[in-house]
Amino acid sequence: MKKFVINGGKRLNGEVEVSTSKNAILPILAASILADKKDVILECVPSITDVERMLLIIESIGGKVDFNNGVACINSENISSFEVLGENPSKFRASYYMIGSLLGRFKKAKVALPGGCPIGERPIDQHIKGFKALGATVELTSEYIYVEAKELIGTNIFFDVVSVGATINIMLAAVFADGVTTLENVAKEPHVVDVANFLNTMGANIKGAGTDVIRISGIKKLSGCMYQAIPDQIEAGTYMIAAAAIGEEVTITNVIPKHLEPVTAKLLEIGIEVIENGESITVKGAKTALKPIKIQTLQYPGFPTDLQQPMGALLSLVEGTSTISERVYENRFLYLTQLEKMGVKYAIEGRDASITGTKSLNPAVLIATDLRAGASLIIAGLCANGTSEVLDIDHVDRGYYKFDEKLKKLGADITRLEV
Ligand code: UD1
Repeated sequence: MKKFVINGGKRLNGEVEVSTSKNAILPILAASILADKKDVILECVPSITDVERMLLIIESIGGKVDFNNGVACINSENISSFEVLGENPSKFRASYYMIGSLLGRFKKAKVALPGGCPIGERPIDQHIKGFKALGATVELTSEYIYVEAKELIGTNIFFDVVSVGATINIMLAAVFADGVTTLENVAKEPHVVDVANFLNTMGANIKGAGTDVIRISGIKKLSGCMYQAIPDQIEAGTYMIAAAAIGEEVTITNVIPKHLEPVTAKLLEIGIEVIENGESITVKGAKTALKPIKIQTLQYPGFPTDLQQPMGALLSLVEGTSTISERVYENRFLYLTQLEKMGVKYAIEGRDASITGTKSLNPAVLIATDLRAGASLIIAGLCANGTSEVLDIDHVDRGYYKFDEKLKKLGADITRLEV
């Protein structure tokens, strides 16, 4: 088991560079198998566990993968299998993008059901609705999903739920469909736009990504290209929140400030100074007492659910009672049971939580129950008076590139141990 040992109380200072977005690069990797003979060359790819797993999937179906120094070169010419089964795909969520890509490429796909963080039910009914609407039949077992279509035909699809995964998956399946596919009530997250941009760079005809309606005019072939995905706004937001909690002056580089507006707005409301400078953001630790706030997580451009847990760690240090309404997932407050070990008081009622902050956090042994919970506990550990441990950090390695090394560079005392 891997864990972090953190000697808390060291103020963070300096510059930290954000890596490429996990939630953009994973579907982009899945989309790369739609290319013809020419290589897809992806730059600045972070070697986080989920990326390594996705590359293994591409190799397992016959793709050629060369991943060195952050450059992933993928050749899909010899991909022959439409099956992605076994343990690997069920260890992370984004493996389900192979359903859309393989359906697009082979008109059939058999993919193990995805895993991912235990933060709620996470059904895939909207994906299935989309595949069926394009003309596919769907067989769903407790282990895999099998989709098959004689022909994929463009149509209108109105999603009942705004879903990042369903929006991207149906986009992937529809690029080669006959005619025009119109997706309504789609997710507008920056990574949805990035995947559409990537597909368009390969030769697709997708319009409207970033709005409520996406139109995909089917084409016959896609070609390899070079591409660099957007910076990770969740990683950037995590460093902003860490800086607000225990920073003096931290500059976060390689960011798109527009993507971080919901976080910036909340930090300003708490009483933190946030300065946007082009492609970087500087966060200055508070000199006066912070104010409790209300947060509601929503789809983009609302406050991202993935930053709700890191924000919970910050609110633990804000005197008074803050409230969080979690509107995206039904079970994303498990980390509060861990913060309680540090002296934090909280109450949960359905999808709402209230956190009553304390002046200082006690050190504790904490268990990371999922990726963003892990980030939250690490921030809390950085703030505690004494030595804390965060266990089960495999979750964190799935999504944060060199988290401990980047924090060390900012002055944190954090050590990775394998026991
Ligand atoms: C993606 C992100 C995750 C982020 C989430 C919301 C990846 C790999 N993961 O997850 O980090 O927290 O977006 O920004 O990109 N839903 C349904 N039916 C469906 C699909 C979704 O009811 O068919 C519900 C989900 O249970 C959830 C909500 O819709 O309550 C949003 O889910 P969705 O946007 O699909 O999240 P993911 O793509 O799983």
